Amino acid sequence: MQINSLNPEQLRKRQTELAARYEAVKAASLSLDLTRGKPAPAQLDLANAIDGILDGFYLLQDGTDVRNYGGILGIPEARQLGGQFLNIDPGLVLVGGNSSLALMYQYVAHMLPTWQRQTDTVRFLCPVPGYDRHFAICEAFGIEMINVPFVDGGPDMDQIESLVRDDPGIKGIWCVPMYSNPTGHTYSDDTVARFAKLAGRAGPDFRIMWDNAYAVHHLYDQPDRLANLMALATEAANEDSVVLFASTSKVTFAGAGIAFLGASGRNLAAFEKFLVPQVIGFDKVNQLRHVRFLTDVDAHMKLHADIIRPKFELVEKKLSSALADKGIARWSRPNGGYFVSLDTSAPIADRVVALASAVGVKLTPAGATFPYGKDPDNSNIRIAPTFPGMTDLDRALDVLVLCIELVAVSRALRE
Ligand SMILES: Cc1ncc(COP(=O)(O)O)c(C=O)c1O
Repeated sequence: MQINSLNPEQLRKRQTELAARYEAVKAASLSLDLTRGKPAPAQLDLANAIDGILDGFYLLQDGTDVRNYGGILGIPEARQLGGQFLNIDPGLVLVGGNSSLALMYQYVAHMLPTWQRQTDTVRFLCPVPGYDRHFAICEAFGIEMINVPFVDGGPDMDQIESLVRDDPGIKGIWCVPMYSNPTGHTYSDDTVARFAKLAGRAGPDFRIMWDNAYAVHHLYDQPDRLANLMALATEAANEDSVVLFASTSKVTFAGAGIAFLGASGRNLAAFEKFLVPQVIGFDKVNQLRHVRFLTDVDAHMKLHADIIRPKFELVEKKLSSALADKGIARWSRPNGGYFVSLDTSAPIADRVVALASAVGVKLTPAGATFPYGKDPDNSNIRIAPTFPGMTDLDRALDVLVLCIELVAVSRALRE
């Protein structure tokens, strides 16, 4: 029954029922967390064999000893693996430390002086809702952010093309092109083709920060498919506008994986020059561990999918059984990645998050998926189902749907 078709008396009755349930939950003293997209312990266990896999063998085929200094771009075997993740020539890959986010931060730091010579205010486009830590990088560097909404095939390319054409201060855009955080979008072929041509409108120092964090994180045997941006951009002579990122954070150990950056030969050489005063080389021992362990990435990722698919399916089941016919929220049904994105129909996300938190269910703060923490519609709630066990997830979702309906009904009554 749609909430907005209930009369005041029906609404009051429903509010009383929901409030009683809320009081019962309060008494249960829960302590549950649906905030960050972290792998569950069982997922981390899948990679335990990486520890000790070298078993005293530290030499590469070419005789390089990975325990020693050198090789800032990474060992050739790991660059090969990076080429697989990023879908590019391994010669265009740098293998970094344990965090692709750190590479993104460093890449922005490296470009900033160039951008600042060209404009007083550097601006970035941010498809929203998006990844809060991308926005934090912009904030750290004083880069102004402009929201761009999603449409079916990815971010609204009409808006993006007209914004970059009209504003030379726009120097970049954040993209999570596959199973986007948090919406689950995989960019359509048309969207990727338009990105490949964007630099033609935006200028030679414009950068598409293509963060393919969920490149191999499929939930189902029929995965989404992402067109090859670097190949298309190269065809259009725009390869310098593209910088690709990925990591094994949610493949092996989050926090102890390896990260990849992919860029044109020219961009890679410039970035290498920027890194040289900072680091002699990244952790090649860990690179070799990963190469030896990840001999079949797809097979390994299927093991992850088997652990987290039931959690995503539980989210879908709980949301649709509690909310589907009420007209108070809609949500994503992703084929991969780490999140479900829920939008309330009314501007009540902050109230829902506060109410859930008051009974011990932590949700990502309302607004966190938008630049400056400001969701203009106050409607987006990011659900991260991977970390909790099924029982905790089940309980937390019960609280979430209860809070959504309680706030929506109370609001409808006030109106
Ligand atoms: C889109 C996106 N990029 C990057 C990261 C972090 O990656 P890393 O661990 O390689 O720094 C995350 C983690 O949640 C993410 O969702």
